[in-house]
Amino acid sequence: MIKVDISNVWSQFSLPDLLAMEKEVMSAHETLMTGSGEGNDFLGWLELPVWEETDEIRRIRMAAASIRENSDVFVVVGIGGSYLGPRAAIELMQGANHNIGKGRGNPQIFYAGNSLSTRGWNELLRLLEGKDFSVAFISKSGTTTEPAIATRALRWMLERKYGTDGAKHRIYAITDPAKGALRQMATEEGWETFVIPPDVGGRYSVLTAVGLLPMAVAGIDIMQVMQGAFSARKTYDVRSFENPVWLYAASRNLLYRSGKAIELLSSFEPGFKMFGGWWQQLFGESEGKDGKGIFPVSAEFTADLHSLGQMIQQGERNLFETMVRFAPPAQKAIVGSDWKNLDGLNYLEGRTLDFVDEQAYLGTVAAHVDGGVPVISVDAGDLNDSKLGEMFYFFELCCGVSAYLLGVNPFNQPGVEFYKRNMFQLLGKPGYEQK
Ligand code: PA5
Repeated sequence: MIKVDISNVWSQFSLPDLLAMEKEVMSAHETLMTGSGEGNDFLGWLELPVWEETDEIRRIRMAAASIRENSDVFVVVGIGGSYLGPRAAIELMQGANHNIGKGRGNPQIFYAGNSLSTRGWNELLRLLEGKDFSVAFISKSGTTTEPAIATRALRWMLERKYGTDGAKHRIYAITDPAKGALRQMATEEGWETFVIPPDVGGRYSVLTAVGLLPMAVAGIDIMQVMQGAFSARKTYDVRSFENPVWLYAASRNLLYRSGKAIELLSSFEPGFKMFGGWWQQLFGESEGKDGKGIFPVSAEFTADLHSLGQMIQQGERNLFETMVRFAPPAQKAIVGSDWKNLDGLNYLEGRTLDFVDEQAYLGTVAAHVDGGVPVISVDAGDLNDSKLGEMFYFFELCCGVSAYLLGVNPFNQPGVEFYKRNMFQLLGKPGYEQK
């Protein structure tokens, strides 16, 4: 079970304050689980975790095996909820540099359609030069501009390289089962498709083919992921403060009420960075509305202690932190000895890097708490494929409960449309003409 430790938040609220929230948290949790709240037509993610392989998962595994066999590179096209989950999973499990040394049999994985940058696009073209590749076009609506532009271009590249029929065996569309331009295109062109269920929003879609196909291509055991999430459904269904979901959701709301409007999620694992990006979207899009919301940001420690550390320690006191820890890996690294000791490190000789990291963590928590920054600690334990599934489900559940506690609909994102409307007007998209 993921453990949540709130022993470093008591400067902001008391145990009676926390216990006084019991009814509110109970009601938020019930609202979510019984589907009686706003946004209840988007609760399909609660039912996604499964223990047994479904037909869809079997097809995903077969598609992944074929991609691994015939491709040097796999390109994942999508943005927001249609991109962050798979990247978070792959980089957490295999590190940000996982592509180095990969190729046919275990393809490199690159991302497209998550920006409008020409430099980014040109870089992808260079990376694809001379390579056999396959693509997943991911878009629930099928109309999002960034992935739509990349989809058009990559589809042409594939058709030029392999012919229309050859390209068909390298294109996978992940989209709504019935609606949208991508669904229509896939049907017309005969591409293999996977479904984003209509009742699953983008940021809650990591346990559909959106996350599972790229994870399987990367060699992650997606049944382990699903089983981890499946067990989590039961583990975190407890209706009391024994439940770490309750502790996290209630604490962050109490901290917000006491003026802490920013939450900094950090980990001492560099591979966690994109998971932080996924979490940022999950909480940001779910909670930031009606003039309310905790602003979610993420950081990588110890690296960012040398950039954001000063601000955290002594800047405006409107911040709290959530630090995620994992158990150390089996393979140890040890600080060696050097008889000259010019670097003065011999006092650490024979110590594991984990030991040094642990002291850095403890020292950081103590310093930040002293500096007026409450810290929630999340101990995730061993990191493996099953834990990955548990973590996704855990944070999704925390987010649903927390957003209902805040009094907002966790499942819509009306604000995201505003930039699009302006952009479409400027681009002259039919239907968006300037009045
Ligand atoms: O969480 C969300 O709903 C969004 O981030 C979407 O996933 C994102 O805007 C992409 O949308 P689509 O999958 O329709 O292309």
